[in-house]
Amino acid sequence: MNINIAKEQVAEKGFLDIEVSPTLDLFAEIEKLKKEKNIVLLAHYYQEPDIQDVADYIGDSLGLAQQAAQTNADIIVFAGVHFMAETAKILSPSKKVLLPDLNAGCSLADSAPPKLFKSFKDKHPDHIVVTYVNCSAEIKALSDIICTSSNAEKIIESIPKEQPIIFAPDRNLGAFLNKKTGRNMVLWNGSCIVHEIFSLEKITKLKIRHPKAKFIAHPECEEAVLNVADFIGSTSQLLSYTEKNEATEFIVATEAGILYQMQQNSPQKTFIPAPPNNSCACNDCPYMKLNTLEKLYLCMQYETPEITIDEKLRLQALKSLDRMMEISKAAGLIK
Ligand code: 13P
Ligand code: SF4
Repeated sequence: MNINIAKEQVAEKGFLDIEVSPTLDLFAEIEKLKKEKNIVLLAHYYQEPDIQDVADYIGDSLGLAQQAAQTNADIIVFAGVHFMAETAKILSPSKKVLLPDLNAGCSLADSAPPKLFKSFKDKHPDHIVVTYVNCSAEIKALSDIICTSSNAEKIIESIPKEQPIIFAPDRNLGAFLNKKTGRNMVLWNGSCIVHEIFSLEKITKLKIRHPKAKFIAHPECEEAVLNVADFIGSTSQLLSYTEKNEATEFIVATEAGILYQMQQNSPQKTFIPAPPNNSCACNDCPYMKLNTLEKLYLCMQYETPEITIDEKLRLQALKSLDRMMEISKAAGLIK
């Protein structure tokens, strides 16, 4: 099919009407397209195993943003969610940035509508705004510094103690940071649907059944869950903890996609997903899991859907992202 016709169709209905032959070797086709079109394929740890296997780089939000900023590729294909691909476009405006499914959003990003956030900010004129990267470009443009779960503590610590701060949009990460840094940041009331689903009661029982297991959690989890964790960190920090720690069993409270990489890197260890408070056995992010190998292939083939952003908005959003990159470099978190 012609690329322009495909773009129109995809804009209307996504890839629904475009068939992929089940006999096609998608892994080989994706590798071929990467070379032909000088594409870099970036994937978050929450992507399905097949996508992680075919990616050029797998990482957390900070690592992915850094890769996007530094790549020499002509096209960035982002196997992640919208705010991640948008961040890549803000940092690398000359590249074509593709996201296999434009509906891959994020409940945290959705919890901060720009108009409401602007009036919240206006009520605290003497505060500076530190915002978690899980937010829209409009919110980034209203922020002073962006952070991720890998660098949030260092970013807060880089701000003078007497300077009042607004932290958005994740109330759980914000409360965790208040506790860790001794600040009293004003928190926006947003949360992640995946990380708020864990059941403390079931985790407690699981810990009793696996007394030697380490319980590790992402800081987007609720305080009651974080209180019983042996280690709290971003996805890359959790992964590295499981590699370095001598324990052989880990109960993991974050999106289940990361367990694939944990198992790959430590095949002799056991990883148990923390149980949610419903009857479903999985903690999949419904947005992250919208991406599939088929959509990835089609998106590379037809170079759509593409992330676009108004240049004025991009430049406003870039300031807070640049500030994050500078502080992260100074703290030795990225090169
Ligand atoms: P990380 O930056 O820790 O990978 O987190 C991304 C995310 O969306 C967590 O839900
Ligand atoms: Fe957003 Fe939560 Fe999904 Fe991460 S896991 S992308 S924070 S909804």
